[in-house]
Amino acid sequence: MRADEPSRTALGVAVARSRLDRPSTSTGDVDADRALAESLLADASESIRGRDGDRARWRGFGGWITARTSFFDDAVLAAIDDGVGQIVVLGAGYDTRALRFRSPGVRFFEVDHPATQADKRARLDRLGIAPDDVTFVAADFTEPGLGDRLAAAGHRAEVATLFIIEGVLRYLPEQWFRALLATAAGRASAGSRLAVSISTADPDEDDERAASRRRREERLVASGEPVLTVPDREVALAWLAESGWTADSVLDVADAAPGTRPGRLLVLAHR
Ligand SMILES: C[S@@+](CC[C@H](N)C(=O)[O-])C[C@H]1O[C@@H](n2cnc3c(N)ncnc32)[C@H](O)[C@@H]1O
Repeated sequence: MRADEPSRTALGVAVARSRLDRPSTSTGDVDADRALAESLLADASESIRGRDGDRARWRGFGGWITARTSFFDDAVLAAIDDGVGQIVVLGAGYDTRALRFRSPGVRFFEVDHPATQADKRARLDRLGIAPDDVTFVAADFTEPGLGDRLAAAGHRAEVATLFIIEGVLRYLPEQWFRALLATAAGRASAGSRLAVSISTADPDEDDERAASRRRREERLVASGEPVLTVPDREVALAWLAESGWTADSVLDVADAAPGTRPGRLLVLAHR
């Protein structure tokens, strides 16, 4: 991504997610979540805002975002219910789960590229939202030292943690895709879990779907966020295992949301 600009894909996803009906915890701050979404909507391009009115475009993207959001929401709620005390959101973008699912005794860490995180924090400041129970960690995942940064920020490797990696891995070169999984595993004690979305190659891609994928990817190149790593499903799951995670469930979103293209995986794993 561009070093000096916040992620546009993060903004697009957050705007889409703000359309959905979602759960929250009894101590969660849904108003703060809404306020941030409105501030993002005000800055979203016509193309992002127009997606709502364009049924054909919304059907595929909306199905994917709906399934993905509920998968990660459920993972967070299950972890909180099970007494997991730390939630580390890697590549957090404008994710507001730390606000929506705020819970006594649970510390959220939001890790993101400095440019995106600075924009998010400035927005929260302008809106008067003080997320005191969130620890922000600025990090570029294509540089070494993430584990040390987490430790310095107060993440305790000996305490069970839920790691979330949503919509991030495909934007990293293979080396750093694998390093991010391994760093999380390296700080995951017994009882820790991982919820991750992984874009893998569409096994049934025909010429028409390939052309439409290339158009999407060209738009991402133009916005400074090229898609860099999309392995085959077996390869992705092998990388996950080699990094130290054992998959408990692997859902291809196309099986849950008809009309979405195959290959987008939602994976739950443990150490
Ligand atoms: C598609 S957005 C997803 C954001 C968030 N997880 C969500 O689902 O709303 C991709 C995220 O990856 C982050 N990202 C991309 N490349 C990164 C890098 N090299 N280092 C750190 N973060 C990066 C961006 O800042 C952005 O927040």
